[in-house]
Amino acid sequence: MPPRQTTTAGAPVADNQNSLTAGPRGPVLLQDWQLIEKLAHQNRERIPERVVHAKGWGAYGTLTITHDISRYTRASLFSAVGKQTEMLLRFSTVAGEQGAADAERDVRGFAMKFYTEEGNWDLVGNNTPVFFVRDPLKFPDFIHTQKRHPQTNLRSPTAMWDFWSLSPESLHQVTILMSDRGLPVAPMFMNGYGSHTYGMWNAAGERVWVKFHFKTMQGHRHYTNAEAAQVIGQSRESYQEALFGGIQRGEFPRWKMQIQVMTEEQAEQTPFNPFDLTKVWPHADFPVIDVGVLELNRNPRNYFAEIEQAAFSPSNFVPGIGASPDKMLQARIFSYADAHRYRLGTHYEALPVNAPKCPFHHYHKDGAMRFFQNDTGNPDAYYEPNSMGGPVQDPSVAEPPLRIQGDADRFNHREGNDDFSQPRALFNLFDAGERQRLFGNIAAAMGGVPQHIVDRQLALFDQVHPEYGAGVRAALKG
Ligand code: NDP
Ligand code: HEM
Repeated sequence: MPPRQTTTAGAPVADNQNSLTAGPRGPVLLQDWQLIEKLAHQNRERIPERVVHAKGWGAYGTLTITHDISRYTRASLFSAVGKQTEMLLRFSTVAGEQGAADAERDVRGFAMKFYTEEGNWDLVGNNTPVFFVRDPLKFPDFIHTQKRHPQTNLRSPTAMWDFWSLSPESLHQVTILMSDRGLPVAPMFMNGYGSHTYGMWNAAGERVWVKFHFKTMQGHRHYTNAEAAQVIGQSRESYQEALFGGIQRGEFPRWKMQIQVMTEEQAEQTPFNPFDLTKVWPHADFPVIDVGVLELNRNPRNYFAEIEQAAFSPSNFVPGIGASPDKMLQARIFSYADAHRYRLGTHYEALPVNAPKCPFHHYHKDGAMRFFQNDTGNPDAYYEPNSMGGPVQDPSVAEPPLRIQGDADRFNHREGNDDFSQPRALFNLFDAGERQRLFGNIAAAMGGVPQHIVDRQLALFDQVHPEYGAGVRAALKG
């Protein structure tokens, strides 16, 4: 026997097939509150999509620590070899809307929420180690070039290349985007990167700077543009099918978690700014250190509740992990929680997928959808300080002080900054086939772009490597 259908108020429903009407031909009576409630609920089934990274795919998993890094961090999830922490991972494309096709050339989001014993740690990264801009003042401009043109409502290659050709710091990320890795076959066949430099501090209060890497254990697999066009012709949901279907079949994708570590003293000596999001730390100078293995092994039961309503924020740190001076990171620390309050509401962190799995005690109070108990153990303790035994701060988790210096000013981030060496190092890694595909992908993406913009971009490619500019020129002619 199936369970008895009820209203949202719990009353049994007598008829879910026929509206309440005056006579068999109608009209409908206003007092058919079940009909009205169904229609009203339907009108409220959509929430704003994410302003970026709207199309996504996610699953739950586990991080298992295989190597001891407690000398760098006191974060509880890294406290012992063998330790396991439950986590959620949402992959996404950046520019496409919620209904966009999965197999489109774009950067992929790689957003992780670790439900640790000392709160949720969110590492909201991408499948690339760098980004298009290094100053957050340029992020909204950049995103405007990726979204639709205000008049045509079409994507605008002119806007993209206009912005990129005027922003040489984008060269590194543009090269990755237009290379093979710009179009992975499915989420399990790509790496994830924390991208920013983060801080870590250990039990003795000593800080180091770190980069986070998640290396695919399935191997890298990519589509060419032509292959992707075929895939999209058959399915717009190839990532969801691959990820959800794979996990359903018991094929659990895995990534090797690694970090790079830089001391505060080393950070003062690198030839590049180690807090610049358009730069990587060369592996030869800062070798990767194994940390653990991430495995996705559980599909969400309800996509909307657990993936669409998931709220990741770079502001979610735990003791032992913190921010760095990266300007982009500071902007993100503001931006995401602000976006969540707009997209999901004031108490978005009380939703089951976002709520910590450890005990939590805060003093936030009322507002829309206040459906949870703060559970301070005492209804009188709703402010702090109080003499009712309410929760109190714990100075033992304080981050060590960071020495900063300098005049407050708007410093020109393009002055004296080498935007070419690292894209060159990447270009030098590409074999002949990879280079040809890079040239072809760029030429294809430049269709319809005015010549003066193309020329300005070609001059930038020339500065990375003469063969880079020449290759794109040849592909444009071909
Ligand atoms: P290494 O040769 O030590 O490292 C090369 C890195 O590049 C590896 O992490 C590798 O990732 C990745 N890589 C290899 N082929 C490609 C490709 N076709 N597209 C994108 N990434 C690729 O050199 P360096 O550390 O000196 O870095 C050289 C360049 O490699 C950098 O300028 C940067 O563009 C790129 N890179 C560097 C990373 C870093 O953290 N140092 C991270 C990712 C890219 P994998 O191990 O998965 O094959
Ligand atoms: C999503 C802002 C840079 C990765 C978002 C969202 C905003 C945003 C507002 C939507 C959040 C939501 O509605 O849930 C910014 C700003 C940036 C920036 C202001 C720079 C100043 C970056 C960088 C990365 C990144 C550098 C990766 C290294 C992501 C990911 C998501 C996202 C993965 C989707 C998260 C999810 O799956 O829910 N960003 N972003 N962003 N951003 Fe950024």
